[in-house]
Amino acid sequence: MSETTTKSVTVSAPDVLQITPLENAPFGARISLPAYAQDPADLNEDDFQRLYKAVHEYLVVVLPDLAELKPSSQYQLTKRFDPTCEGAYGHSKEFRHEKSVLRRDGHSTPAQPQVQILGQGRHDGHAGVRDLLLRHPTHMSFHHDPLSNDDMANGYTRFYRWHIDSALYGLAPPVVTTLLGIDCPVDKRQKIRYEDTGEEITTTKATTAFASGAIAFDNLSDEDKEFALNTTVVYAPHPYIFISPAKATSDGLTMVSEGKELPLDELPEWEQSKVKRLPLVWTNPVTGKHHMQVHGCCIWKLETPNGTLELEDARNTIHRLMRHNISPDHIYCHDWNQGDLVIFFNRGVWHSVTGQFEEGGHRLMHQCNIASDVDPVCKK
Ligand SMILES: [Fe+2]
Repeated sequence: MSETTTKSVTVSAPDVLQITPLENAPFGARISLPAYAQDPADLNEDDFQRLYKAVHEYLVVVLPDLAELKPSSQYQLTKRFDPTCEGAYGHSKEFRHEKSVLRRDGHSTPAQPQVQILGQGRHDGHAGVRDLLLRHPTHMSFHHDPLSNDDMANGYTRFYRWHIDSALYGLAPPVVTTLLGIDCPVDKRQKIRYEDTGEEITTTKATTAFASGAIAFDNLSDEDKEFALNTTVVYAPHPYIFISPAKATSDGLTMVSEGKELPLDELPEWEQSKVKRLPLVWTNPVTGKHHMQVHGCCIWKLETPNGTLELEDARNTIHRLMRHNISPDHIYCHDWNQGDLVIFFNRGVWHSVTGQFEEGGHRLMHQCNIASDVDPVCKK
């Protein structure tokens, strides 16, 4: 007869990364780090793979309470999402060109130049930078018909520019962007009015808005899906300089066509081999879903099954395909809390800055994305 012994076993919760889908949002998830990794750069391979999968499935994930995250950790985490990337920031040096529409967006952290400091107001000594003056990008300098002062005094703002983070010339689009809210006052509300439908949404001030490229594709008609799957977007050489004299539509989706773009022979030196030609639809490497991914402000031409559309027709077509996807029900607006690290699948969502700050307003964020070595592909 065998002897049986009974042991008392204490079962603790598994110390692994936890994923909780966001409620009342069309996509997105909240991540809890395992206890062993206060710094997400320290995740073990299994937990990093959970995070990698979550970013591709939920598209935007939020890791709270990381206000002290070091730029070196943010860089390492960002780079880990793309083994092909060599470590350069997602934009080339033209980012700072005097005519670029991006020139004022951010300042590199000295110790980790791929991490950009973004925000509003004067910040002296942050990350070792003396007397840093940050300017939050606002629609006033970018839209063709900005809001009136009365509208802004009444709390209205706009989607500044719906985009993917990418140089769109020479370099391949980054896989993810990481955005850290270090000092993000959330005491005020703002309103965005959709001027074509009259709809309005209310959000926290300077929310970051996201739209899913997968929802955009799924909601196209069968005919438009076929068109999108067989269309290539050609971006202008040095696109952010090319569009600098032009102004954007009031929804921030594309540019108004008035022939104001810089003539090609007035751009900095460029070469045809660096002009970006990307499919209009990018296939998610984890889910296999199709995402309609396009930077509507930077497009130059569309190569469609029915021939090439030049600038104005290309913009009109892209605007028609994109517009439905920024409707109130389809977007997720992130209400920033101090210490939120947002990681978004830059090859699967579009995003937009919103809001404008009053004199003396302040905000501080760190942003990182790294140019990939490989362009996204459409797997039909
Ligand atoms: Fe961005």
